[in-house]
Amino acid sequence: MELKEFVKLNKNKLQKKDIQNITKHKIDYISDYVNSWGIIASNYQSCLQVNFIDCMCNAGIYNDTTLGTPMRVLKIFINLAQKHKTKVFNLFLNDYDKEKVEVIKELSKEINKDNIQNINIFYSVEDVNKYLESFNKKYNKYMYNSLSLLFVDPYNFGDVKIKNIKAFLQNNYSELLFNYFCSDYYRNINNPFAIVKHDEIIESMNDVPGFSSEMTYTDVLELIRNYLKVGENDLSFAYEFRTSKNAPFYHILYITRNKKGLVKIKDSYWKIFEGESFYLNDDSSVKQESLIDIKDLNEEQHAQKVKIEVIKEFSGKKVDFNKIELFILENSMLRSGQIIKLVLNPLIENGQIIKCNETSSKRNYREDYYIVCGEKNEKL
Ligand SMILES: C[S@@+](CC[C@H](N)C(=O)[O-])C[C@H]1O[C@@H](n2cnc3c(N)ncnc32)[C@H](O)[C@@H]1O
Repeated sequence: MELKEFVKLNKNKLQKKDIQNITKHKIDYISDYVNSWGIIASNYQSCLQVNFIDCMCNAGIYNDTTLGTPMRVLKIFINLAQKHKTKVFNLFLNDYDKEKVEVIKELSKEINKDNIQNINIFYSVEDVNKYLESFNKKYNKYMYNSLSLLFVDPYNFGDVKIKNIKAFLQNNYSELLFNYFCSDYYRNINNPFAIVKHDEIIESMNDVPGFSSEMTYTDVLELIRNYLKVGENDLSFAYEFRTSKNAPFYHILYITRNKKGLVKIKDSYWKIFEGESFYLNDDSSVKQESLIDIKDLNEEQHAQKVKIEVIKEFSGKKVDFNKIELFILENSMLRSGQIIKLVLNPLIENGQIIKCNETSSKRNYREDYYIVCGEKNEKL
């Protein structure tokens, strides 16, 4: 069945409002990352199962036939499952709205119409907090020898208890993509006309040490980010989305233990957002033509900033490439492929960093060490 026909048949059960560009970009960004992550997971010998868990999955399709993230992931899984027949691809879909789950179930059958043997799809209709709490009881066997990605994507900040996400990450070898709904937080945390929302936010932050309702939304993002960095899962990246009125709307927070994951999410970010510091929603149909190459301009700006931070962070130390790379990946918008050209070489030329040349070739940057001279030598 054509997707148009599917939408027509299910129109009453789908979101009435048209999908906005902000949502389309969120879906593109996450799907692009999942594609890269899926390829890595499929090629990793010890990984026998690849799990994507969308615990707030929606109906899977919008009324203009745009597919939601979990159905984009299903398509990625279909592609990978046919190439990697010894691996099993598990898609876990939950939403508290029964009708939405019925639609996504039907849609999954349409998309996976060949019913590929090494793909499993598990559906459930539960509150997200109950779902996360009971996940391991039901699905533990799928978590062995696996790589997993948990996607938590609410409409409101107060829907999910942050401690449940942490517990999930503690129990499972999993990465996280979490939609931190900052607009909900800053509009309602101290709003006397939104008592219910206020209470839900407090409940959501229950057991997160250091939280107070006086905190700004950016402080809360940092608090959650550090709280969710569990054990070795300690690498992160957050990207901000704004409304067309330039108001911060939400952040997609990503957490992983794997440097490759961080490298790939930054690549997806540059591919979809071209290095813009945040995504500004634009639903107008007029295409803005620019005489300047936005990507180049963004590269230059991000590099200027992080060069200063690298010097500050490592001043007086000898460090390997890996350390500098991780610092830049986490603390700037730059991606791995930009580091040598935009950060290291200019700092070396400027005498602020000395490349130790301890490898067989001078052109080998990635296995070399660097002495960071610090601010004293800045004018060299
Ligand atoms: C932003 S949509 C999810 C979109 C989807 N993840 C995607 O990327 O295509 C949020 C979904 O959360 C569901 N939801 C809201 N509160 C929930 C709760 N307490 N438990 C489970 N699902 C909930 C809504 O029904 C809605 O479908």
